[in-house]
Amino acid sequence: MKQKTVLVSGGAGYIGSHTAVELINAGLNVVVADNLSNSDMSGVEGVRKITGVDVPFINVDCCDKEAFRKVFEQYEFDSVIHFAAFKAVGESVADPMKYYRNNLLSFMNIIDLMREFDRHNIVFSSSATVYGEADELPVTEQTPRKPATSSYGNTKQMCEDILRDSVAAYGGLKGIALRYFNPIGAHPSALIGELPRGVPQNLVPFITQTAAGVRECLSVFGDDYDTPDGSCLRDYIDIVDLAKAHVVAIKRMIDDKNKERYEIFNVGTGRAVSVLELVNTFERVNELKLNYKVAPRRPGDVVAIWADTAHANEELGWKAERSLDDTLRSAWAWEKNVRGIK
Ligand code: NAD
Ligand code: WQD
Repeated sequence: MKQKTVLVSGGAGYIGSHTAVELINAGLNVVVADNLSNSDMSGVEGVRKITGVDVPFINVDCCDKEAFRKVFEQYEFDSVIHFAAFKAVGESVADPMKYYRNNLLSFMNIIDLMREFDRHNIVFSSSATVYGEADELPVTEQTPRKPATSSYGNTKQMCEDILRDSVAAYGGLKGIALRYFNPIGAHPSALIGELPRGVPQNLVPFITQTAAGVRECLSVFGDDYDTPDGSCLRDYIDIVDLAKAHVVAIKRMIDDKNKERYEIFNVGTGRAVSVLELVNTFERVNELKLNYKVAPRRPGDVVAIWADTAHANEELGWKAERSLDDTLRSAWAWEKNVRGIK
């Protein structure tokens, strides 16, 4: 049988590059489309090195519909995984139009072009941010979404709704929104990983850069929350496990023509880990001491969120497998590789 091809928009980035590897491992063809606005070619080159496949790369802005149409004309694919978006929460509050324009327009163009070219399956990168400060924990896919507290979060809610309504209205389109919790870690080869530009906003890249001596000291934002050790609780999902969730989601749509048409899945571990527990685990598994201090709470942080993963476990047959120890070892191995540390 001819191998199926998947278009991966934003595939040069952190999650997209790891997903490209897992798609190829699963026997699918991959085409990457990215404008490198938050990445460089090292992600694609890493994918090529790991898989030995000369993955096609197109430098294109998904917001430029005419340019993007050429990708649809050139390649035969029935499935799309749409990662291309801006993701910095604070920046989205400071410059909302940048986020609405990029994240909404790119997504709407893809839906339009999929209809125009009669392409059927799409996975959308959503986020646990859509739950806000949830009333019940862990959150299930039925837990009500709260009004978004950032323009970034709002784009995720809006794109979910655009997908839901498009699937309901236009025959032939199937969609899955994956709500990622906190993706961390790197590929075991240490050839691809997270490459934040400037000062990292997320916890694990800040930790690894502090361990590497790039940052002087990690601030733990708050130790006076109503949690077991006073620091915030999150559900940290390994990047390779997360990548594999995309493979099963795409295959579900390709293989079974009768599956429900629009579905949402939480992609997490189901386990709540505190900031201090994460820091201590990083120190233990990598046998080093991290320079950190407790600092005031970060405005806008939710106290605690973690996933109920039963729906993904049962319906997708997917489960997070890699241990937090291994994930944090991989994060440090990647940082060392990037910095040339032995
Ligand atoms: P990333 O920035 O590493 O990857 C996104 C990629 O999309 C980048 O390579 C960037 O150059 C590209 N891109 C952005 N706008 C584009 C456009 N208009 N046209 C073409 N390419 C464009 O981010 P990531 O962490 O890999 O995130 C991927 C997706 O997952 C995003 O949609 C993000 O919102 C979502 N997400 C990420 C997290 C997280 O913590 N990393 C959590 C939940 C959801
Ligand atoms: C995790 C915990 C911080 C940095 C964000 C987005 C969310 C999603 C994932 C895209 C929190 C604490 C952090 C630091 C710290 N992205 N922290 N010191 O805020 O849970 O989620 O990324 O969809 O939308 O909001 O992730 O990694 O920033 O923070 O103490 O230097 O680490 O307070 O408790 P967050 P994070």
